[in-house]
Amino acid sequence: MSAIRYELGSDQILTLTIDMPGQSANTMNAAFREAFDEAVSRVEDNLDNIRGIIVTSAKKTFFAGGDLTELHKVTRDDAQAFEDRVNNLKARMRALETLGKPVVAAVNGTALGGGLEIALACHHRIVMNDNRIQLGLPEVTLGLLPGGGGTQRLPRMIGLEAAFPLLMEGKKLRPDAALKAGIIDELADTQDELMAKARAFIDANPKSQQPWDKKGYKMPGGAPHHPAMAQKLAIAPAMLRQKTKGCYPAPERIMAAAVEGAQVDFDNGSLIETRYFAELAIGQVAKNMTGTFWFQLNDINAGGSRPKGTDKETFKKVGVLGAGMMGAGIAYSTASRGIEVVLKDVSKENAEKGKRYSEDLLAKKVSRGRMTEEKKADVLNRITATDSAADLDGCDLVIEAVFEDSDLKAKVTAEAEPRLVKNGIFASNTSTIPITQLAEASARPENFIGLHFFSPVDKMMLVEIIVGEKTSDETLAKAFDYVQQIGKIPVVVNDSRGFFTSRVFGTFVNEGISMLGEGIHPASIENAGLLAGMPVGPLAISDEVSMTLMQHIRAQSRKDVEAAGGQWNAHPAEAIIDQMVDDHGRKGKAAGAGFYEYPEKGKKYLWPELESLYVDVTKARQTKLQELQDRILFIQAIETVRCLEEGVLRTVEDANIGSIFGIGYAPWTGGAIQFINQYGVRAFTKRASELANVYGERFTPPQLLLDHAEQNKPLT
Ligand code: NAI
Repeated sequence: MSAIRYELGSDQILTLTIDMPGQSANTMNAAFREAFDEAVSRVEDNLDNIRGIIVTSAKKTFFAGGDLTELHKVTRDDAQAFEDRVNNLKARMRALETLGKPVVAAVNGTALGGGLEIALACHHRIVMNDNRIQLGLPEVTLGLLPGGGGTQRLPRMIGLEAAFPLLMEGKKLRPDAALKAGIIDELADTQDELMAKARAFIDANPKSQQPWDKKGYKMPGGAPHHPAMAQKLAIAPAMLRQKTKGCYPAPERIMAAAVEGAQVDFDNGSLIETRYFAELAIGQVAKNMTGTFWFQLNDINAGGSRPKGTDKETFKKVGVLGAGMMGAGIAYSTASRGIEVVLKDVSKENAEKGKRYSEDLLAKKVSRGRMTEEKKADVLNRITATDSAADLDGCDLVIEAVFEDSDLKAKVTAEAEPRLVKNGIFASNTSTIPITQLAEASARPENFIGLHFFSPVDKMMLVEIIVGEKTSDETLAKAFDYVQQIGKIPVVVNDSRGFFTSRVFGTFVNEGISMLGEGIHPASIENAGLLAGMPVGPLAISDEVSMTLMQHIRAQSRKDVEAAGGQWNAHPAEAIIDQMVDDHGRKGKAAGAGFYEYPEKGKKYLWPELESLYVDVTKARQTKLQELQDRILFIQAIETVRCLEEGVLRTVEDANIGSIFGIGYAPWTGGAIQFINQYGVRAFTKRASELANVYGERFTPPQLLLDHAEQNKPLT
């Protein structure tokens, strides 16, 4: 069966329906290329009998895009063959576009990447008016560029300036927004209307040409040589570099393809695009990003570390204890996904305040036209704000997010557990207390688990699931199902102080602070963090977290280590934190003063006194930025390996995804373990040993790494 159905109606309108056999979605793989080539040839042979063409899909989505499995395998050696393949496919798209007959895309579902590019190659785009449909060119988020003509057609259609956010940030649009942006031409409410409108366009436009193929075509917003546009384009690369910090080649190549392409005719522009596409596809960053954000994330979504053997659980009623910052966010994220929520606090007033948080978020959505009043009311009606434990009756899951206090957590656990349905589970959102310890307060420790959300809950995609010593596989499977049901990403970790994310995050922050103690300029430290690809510098994030909290967590950890007969190894950062808090009264952002000053009006800036207190001019001059960047990325990667070695982490997938989505580990690396693999396990180990010689044993490569280095085997 061909992947494209060819149906010529008695009205001489040809419908090409893309329906790739054995695939749930259409992708641009070899089978598609062959079928498309065949279909276009058949059209060319029968052109006299065809008045117009409708391109549509038999799948739920219109077209999913490029075939990433194929793309991921392209190497430098077959780059030329890859370019030829891409250019051949594009030539066939171009053939369809220049037939002289109207070609309409009847977009019945989401069209991303290559899918939207097919639609852009048509003369007219009609899309189902359904808010679940997304249109966009998200290639950049995988380190790639839209190589199917996207960087050429979109700017020619809506202008360079309007095309840039779609091309370089991968912004996705709902159909109504796409219509406003001029990317599509019409909306249709039903499938029949979709096809009727396509036919009507063909009837009314017997001869169709793309605007850029018409005589006297002028690029909307001005061509690159237009004085106003030239002025904008002169500063655009610098602005872009400020954002990408040089870590991400894709946005720069996209800009180059679009701007260079706009200065030549369409066909030459298309060849330029392919050149850049191939360069990115064989590059390491695209390999890292597709590997992690596509393949490894898909593995997690397909079940990841969820124990097999139990049916998927659907949650209907969830209790949330504590309506503070975290509880309110958890209630919102849960109710938004159709689950009934009981939000309990010590007083009805507190609980109502927590519920108002959802109301505010929902109101914002309504005001931006992204939600109806009706839907908002639906979500709010699902949240019961209460101070009564009796309302928890019949919950499948209760999550506690009360203050970080073991005794209080024990009390609320004992109070809520009897209210759960039989086999219901109880979860703690603690950020620091071991789950095994908290489970001691539970009558059913096998049904007790950690669900560590991140703040702000509505935006942060990751949930760290923490398995205590007695937690059963069944409970873990249920917790995994809940996290997926609310649309978040579950990574599974075994109980350990700081779990996985906080432990690794701690090494990042401490490394940055210890650099200050060595005399390095604070601005260089922050800069090194950003250039390494971290979203925020280590000193700024220390202020966010608050240095008193860091002191508190350290004191607790130290007590535990010493109680277990161990010896506390002080980190060089500790002295600096103590000086900041105890000597200078600078606790962090919430207190209004930390490594940074927080003026009431205007932006924060580094506390000028840091310079006289810490900076050693000779040392600061000698320090190489690359060395600082290495330290920041290495220390976190080494701690991640320790987590794997100790069994805190179960899989490399969880390690990579958890490091990026939980702590913002530089996304260009594909995650903390992928960073090691792409660096080369041997080279990484050697460099880590060098750093250990200079900065101490925290950089000493763990045995697991040494073993892999010896065999020169990536961590998988
Ligand atoms: P919060 O101070 O904003 O809220 C705690 C809420 O618990 C308050 O509304 C309080 O009235 C309520 N509460 C106290 N006793 C209660 C009881 N007996 N029954 C019901 N409610 C009671 O605290 P936040 O920041 O929301 O943190 C809650 C938990 O989440 C803590 O365990 C914290 O360590 C953890 N966590 C916090 C994160 C953060 O970024 N703030 C991140 C991840 C976890």
